[in-house]
This record gives sequence, C-alpha cells and structure tokens, in this order.
Amino acid sequence: MKDLRAYGDHAIVTGASSGIGEQFARQLAAAGVNVVLVARRKDRLEALAAELSAAHGVESRAVALDLLADGAIDELSRQVDGLDIGIVVANAGIYYAGPFVENALSDELDVLALDGALPLQLAHRFGREFVGRRRGALVLVSSSIAASPVPYEANYAAVKAYVLSLGQALHHEWRKDDVDVLVVSPGPTQTEGLDNAVGIDFSMLAGAKMDPARVARTALRNLGRRAHVIPGLSNTLADLAGRYLLPRSASVRMYGRIIGRALTGTAGGAA
Ligand SMILES: NC(=O)c1ccc[n+]([C@@H]2O[C@H](COP(=O)([O-])OP(=O)(O)OC[C@H]3O[C@@H](n4cnc5c(N)ncnc54)[C@H](OP(=O)(O)O)[C@@H]3O)[C@@H](O)[C@H]2O)c1
Repeated sequence: MKDLRAYGDHAIVTGASSGIGEQFARQLAAAGVNVVLVARRKDRLEALAAELSAAHGVESRAVALDLLADGAIDELSRQVDGLDIGIVVANAGIYYAGPFVENALSDELDVLALDGALPLQLAHRFGREFVGRRRGALVLVSSSIAASPVPYEANYAAVKAYVLSLGQALHHEWRKDDVDVLVVSPGPTQTEGLDNAVGIDFSMLAGAKMDPARVARTALRNLGRRAHVIPGLSNTLADLAGRYLLPRSASVRMYGRIIGRALTGTAGGAA
C-alpha cells in the first residue's frame, strides 16, 4: 500500500457515520491520516472522531452536513478551508429498490443527486486543487451491479454505472498530473444501508455479505495501483460474467429474476 500521508495531511470521507464510510475513516486514521468525517448524524461523527483521535493521535473533525441540501459542497469547502486535503472518499449513498413506477420520484432524484451528482461535484471541487498542485487522490464508491442494467434497481444501477465511468475516465485524465483515482465496486456488504434497504430483503439473496472493513481495505490497498477494484472473488466473477460472458439482454433478465425474487413490496410512495 502507498503511504497514504503522501497525498496530503487530511482525508475527507463522506458517509462516515456508518458502514463502508466509517471503515474508510477508521483505516485512514490508522494509517496516520487526519480525517474529516461527513454525514448528517452528528452524534455518531463526534463519537467516531473522538475515538480515532484517541486511538491514532490524528486530528479528526466531525462535519455534520446534509449533502442533499443546497450549497452543501460550498459549506464543506468552508469547513475544510486551510486544510491540506490529500484524499477525498466520495462514499455517501442511498438506495431504493422496487418497481420503478411505484417508487417516489423524489427518492429516485435523491439517489441521482447523492450517489451521482455529489461524487461529480467533489471530483470537480477537489480535483481542480489536486491537479493544480499535482498531488491528491479520489476514491469513488460504485457497486458491483454497475456491470449491468438492473431491473427493480434501475436508477441506482444506472447511477453507479455513471460513477464507474466517471472515475475510470478521470483515472486516465489525471494520471499525467500525479493524481490517483480509484473506483471501488462492492458487492453486497453487511452495513446498515443493506439492513435498512427499502423495497428489498437482502437476506433473500444467496451469498455471504462482505465485511465493510474488507471493502475499505481493498480500496485503499489498490489506490495508486489501478482504476477499478471489485472486492471479493465471487463479486469479481459475477462482474466479468455480467460484462463479458452474457449478452446484455441475458444479464438484464438474470438480474431481473434475482432482484425480483427479493422484493418486499414495501417500496414506493406517491411523490
Ligand atoms: N452495502 C452494500 O451492499 C453496498 C454495495 C455496493 C455499494 N454500496 C455503496 O457504498 C456506499 C456506502 O453504503 P453503506 O452500505 O455503507 O451504507 P450506510 O451504512 O447506510 O452508509 C451510508 C452513509 O451515507 C450517509 N448519508 C446518507 N444520506 C446522506 C446525506 N443526505 N447527507 C450526508 N450523508 C448522507 C449516511 O450518514 P447519515 O445517515 O448520518 O447522514 C451514512 O454515513 C454507498 O455509496 C452505497 O451505494 C454499498
């Protein structure tokens, strides 16, 4: 693994109050990087910040922020003004499954904004700085389902495919500027996000759920080495099958059957 401190003094982790983001924060702090923890639940962020500072002697800052609020990136920029930000982990995300027309449009638009537009904004805001000074790293969190269109997760899968494409392109663009970009595409991972997922019961899906610490560890180990990583052999094989072995139509049908079987029928809203 690269010395993560070489990118800069601080890392920003969005969605650090639970799940994969919390594990990114823990592992960055353990590597000696100061962390800026971003999410809405202030109590959780403050408890984690105190724990990480005590355990690793790093500076940990809790930034309680709704990233869907107007001007969120400007507010985040204000909060980190003057810090040497070396790494940005754009991890915060939400998820809705279910028949597309039964889901609330406002929920789907929030997915598009938080999972898609926010990584774009973070990449643009901090990427300019990184490229200008020729130092920095961006980690984007996609999903193993980005390999194929996915019925009943149509918008989420499309947004994650966008994130993957954005990150792989930026990886190439910024390589000449010594700026690293990595997209990590986790498969099903045991987090609150998975447990509380709306519209789907992940326990109905076969296969073990990955430890979120492993997702973060795999990503950080591959930062600076490649453009894209899928943690876990079975997730990697499923990605290869979805991408190269199956015709697109067969892959869509397969995902439609798998996800369709796990729907709870509780998704949806009228907005
Ligand atoms: N778990 C999986 O199986 C899986 C698989 C593939 C990809 N992923 C991706 O991995 C990332 C993390 O997911 P996770 O499973 O770790 O979920 P999680 O445990 O629910 O964590 C999501 C994080 O995002 C934050 N967040 C949500 N809405 C926010 C908002 N409006 N403003 C600021 N922060 C917000 C949450 O914090 P607050 O609620 O405190 O704001 C939380 O810290 C997501 O991008 C997800 O799509 C997950």
